[in-house]
Amino acid sequence: MLSVENLNVSYGHAKVLHDVSLKVSNGEMVFIAGRNGAGKTTLLKTIAGFLKPDTGSVIFEDKKINGMLPEKVAHLGIRYVFQDKRVFSNLTVKENLEIAAYPVKENIKDAIDKVIGIYPKIEKFLNMRAGSLSGGQRQILLIGRALIGKPKLLLIDEPTEGLAAGTINDILNVLVKMKGNISLVIVEQNLSVVGMLADRVYMMKEGKILKEMTEKDEITNKENLEKYL
Ligand SMILES: Nc1ncnc2c1ncn2[C@@H]1O[C@H](COP(=O)(O)OP(=O)(O)OP(=O)(O)O)[C@@H](O)[C@H]1O
Ligand SMILES: [Mg+2]
Repeated sequence: MLSVENLNVSYGHAKVLHDVSLKVSNGEMVFIAGRNGAGKTTLLKTIAGFLKPDTGSVIFEDKKINGMLPEKVAHLGIRYVFQDKRVFSNLTVKENLEIAAYPVKENIKDAIDKVIGIYPKIEKFLNMRAGSLSGGQRQILLIGRALIGKPKLLLIDEPTEGLAAGTINDILNVLVKMKGNISLVIVEQNLSVVGMLADRVYMMKEGKILKEMTEKDEITNKENLEKYL
């Protein structure tokens, strides 16, 4: 459903991605791992339309989408959950969901039900200020918000970054619930999380894809993944 072909991306004169290619099949959970500065966020932002590649293409459902505005890419069914975990802090959880539901004309009740479907506890927080949520809950709100409308592909940038072990479990549960129901590309530095969930892994280093893995025994072996950091 998604095919990224030989992407080269620069910030000004600094070239950051070098001939990056990857693919995602329907319902697949694909992980991108690699150290800080490897180019993972740059890759997601390019897929989502926030950055234009110098060369190469992003093909989504047989349509070339690089060059389209981010709103247009979102309209085609790709949602991007940013690394910065920003919510509307002064609004309630429910209002945060309403803001996402309005432009795609989704009924707020359906939108809330969708989020409850991946994280039942959200029901207790609906009338709380989003700014008072824990880091993990905020991340789940952002993932839930991205599910509103009918996205086909979700790009999630470092969902467990900065979270304590117990909270990482909540995120894992949410991701497990989504697995197979939607296509996902997840940037993740926690290799245990990668090993538990990935159908396919791309290890990135210095703006290049160093290794692609699809074999379960390769993916679940943390020492094996570490070799490509
Ligand atoms: N807006 C920008 N302008 C110039 N250089 C940038 C910009 N954003 C990122 N870079 C550089 O591009 C390279 C890749 O950054 P990117 O954020 O894509 O890496 P990352 O793998 O997501 O890292 P992290 O794990 O820290 O989030 C880094 O060298 C970074 O300094
Ligand atoms: Mg990043």
